Amino acid sequence: MHLQNRTFIISGGSSGLALATARLLHSHGAYISLLDMNAEAGDAIISELGSVRARFHEVDVTDTDSIAAAVQGTVEWVQTTGAALGGVVAGAGVGNPGLIIDKNNEPLPLAAFDFVINVNLRGTIDLIRQTLPYLTQNEPLGADGERGVLLMFASSAAFDGQMGQVAYAASKGGLASLTLPLARDLSRFGIRAVTIAPSLFESGMTAMMGAKVRQSLERVMEWPKRAGKPDEFARVARECIENPMLNGTVIRLDGAMRMPSKL
Ligand SMILES: NC(=O)c1ccc[n+]([C@@H]2O[C@H](COP(=O)([O-])OP(=O)(O)OC[C@H]3O[C@@H](n4cnc5c(N)ncnc54)[C@H](O)[C@@H]3O)[C@@H](O)[C@H]2O)c1
Repeated sequence: MHLQNRTFIISGGSSGLALATARLLHSHGAYISLLDMNAEAGDAIISELGSVRARFHEVDVTDTDSIAAAVQGTVEWVQTTGAALGGVVAGAGVGNPGLIIDKNNEPLPLAAFDFVINVNLRGTIDLIRQTLPYLTQNEPLGADGERGVLLMFASSAAFDGQMGQVAYAASKGGLASLTLPLARDLSRFGIRAVTIAPSLFESGMTAMMGAKVRQSLERVMEWPKRAGKPDEFARVARECIENPMLNGTVIRLDGAMRMPSKL
């Protein structure tokens, strides 16, 4: 899928990896529709980029109506710009660690498990689900007849989740597992699905980690021994959008890091 004059719906676009991706797509001529809970940051980004090719919608991806309103708003915007929908970049996510049973013999509250699953897994699929009826209506492009691309954000935790990551690993493992059947469901429309599974990257999420946790994580990186930079993620995201042979797969972006049980 080309970037120029195409519109991408980007959840989690107020911060971190999704924002870096949004900036890169925008710098290559894409229209970006940012969806996030953080309206203050979202509005600041639109002020910076200008509203010609960038819009913000306040969305909680656990609230299906707020997704519906943002998708509708984006589709109406597309009708005025003529820049057809190119796809979805589903970056909204939360970490929220918690042991399955804690030192007081208390099991993980179901609400804590549900919260992470609802944002990371259900929220991603709901956004994709609600955008698809519009993507399938796109004019097929080029000899391959491409109509769109869906990019999801998993994590190293999908494969080697650490202590305290039962919920997070389940949510990201779910995204990794559904990538292939999603691609298979959508191949007849010329819509691709790709997932990136990053290890430690600099972002709003990882800025909240204590220095000790962060240094321990960096110690177990293989090479390079540092957190990835948002731009390094965004460059892979761009390739996923542009390269038609990337489909139904999960790309580990981790500098060969395999996370240990605990730090
Ligand atoms: N940074 C990393 O090291 C890393 C590693 C593996 C996976 N990831 C994944 O990458 C994605 C982006 O994370 P990041 O590191 O850039 O974090 P971040 O905190 O910088 O950005 C996440 C964004 O998602 C938004 N968000 C959270 N809950 C939301 C909700 N319910 N509705 C709408 N928006 C919501 C936040 O407001 C924020 O702007 C996440 O899915 C995360 O799990 C990040």
